[in-house]
Amino acid sequence: MIVVENLHKHFGGFHAVDGASLEIRKGSITGLIGPNGAGKTTLFNVIAGRLPPTSGRVLMDGEDVTGLSPHELFHKGLLRTFQIAHEFGSMTVRENLMMVPASQHGETLWNTWFNRKAIAEQEREIAKKADEVLEFLTISHLADQKASQISGGQKKLLELGRTMMVDAKIVFLDEVGAGVNRTLLNTIGDAIVRLNKERGYTFCVIEHDMDFIGRLCDPVIVMAEGKVLAEGSSAHIMENEAVIEAYLGRGLKNKVKSEAAAEEARHENHGAQPGLGDEAGKGGQA
Ligand SMILES: Nc1ncnc2c1ncn2[C@@H]1O[C@H](COP(=O)(O)OP(=O)(O)OP(=O)(O)O)[C@@H](O)[C@H]1O
Ligand SMILES: [Mg+2]
Repeated sequence: MIVVENLHKHFGGFHAVDGASLEIRKGSITGLIGPNGAGKTTLFNVIAGRLPPTSGRVLMDGEDVTGLSPHELFHKGLLRTFQIAHEFGSMTVRENLMMVPASQHGETLWNTWFNRKAIAEQEREIAKKADEVLEFLTISHLADQKASQISGGQKKLLELGRTMMVDAKIVFLDEVGAGVNRTLLNTIGDAIVRLNKERGYTFCVIEHDMDFIGRLCDPVIVMAEGKVLAEGSSAHIMENEAVIEAYLGRGLKNKVKSEAAAEEARHENHGAQPGLGDEAGKGGQA
């Protein structure tokens, strides 16, 4: 669906993305992980048309879409979520959803002036759609609240909801779980899985929460220093030495090892608990 070929994005002499090649397969929920500063957000920004690449190509369904504007990509069904902008905080949750298609139809004064009936009809349809989206996301009760008054996690759901107001094919989510509590994170995760399964959305998800990545994503792509370091299932990735090294750093890696050793020692002292040893080790790494 999306193929990134030898992509570079340089800021002056700094190579934020340094020859990254990867594929996001249609129908997948692809995870993108890597340490801070690995170039993940920059890569998203280039794919989504916010930044021009220094070199390299982005293909969507075989078509070269490198350097298209976010607006043009939006019309091809490629969306990335954005934080609810400040100025929309005074609008209700439902209104925030309703604006998405409206702002994309390029409503002109001419249209509103001469076509009131059609506009009113369209608005009713959009409101209906917004209510369906809210129901899907299990936040119907927030419809009439001001966007500035809902919690951080609810805002993330609303951001996801905005992609449902148009016919998205592929959605890029940058740290959708940051600062979100467990319960809401699960709701967000469920919504992503349902959008993937029931509506055929493809996702590419940047996230630091490895439980979230592990539950949702296959495959997982690891970036470090602007390059793709590894790709595979989440289980495979978490066992990959090079990934552990790059992602956690040597200090943390040693900590993980010593924690695993301590865990093992505890089990030896208290008698082996069948089946638990492995899981405990994995939990420690994640
Ligand atoms: N506009 C810019 N000008 C200069 N340097 C930039 C710019 N944007 C990003 N960088 C640098 O590029 C590198 C990659 O940043 P990026 O935000 O893509 O990393 P990331 O993988 O998303 O990290 P994080 O997990 O912390 O969000 C960082 O060192 C960052 O400081
Ligand atoms: Mg980032």
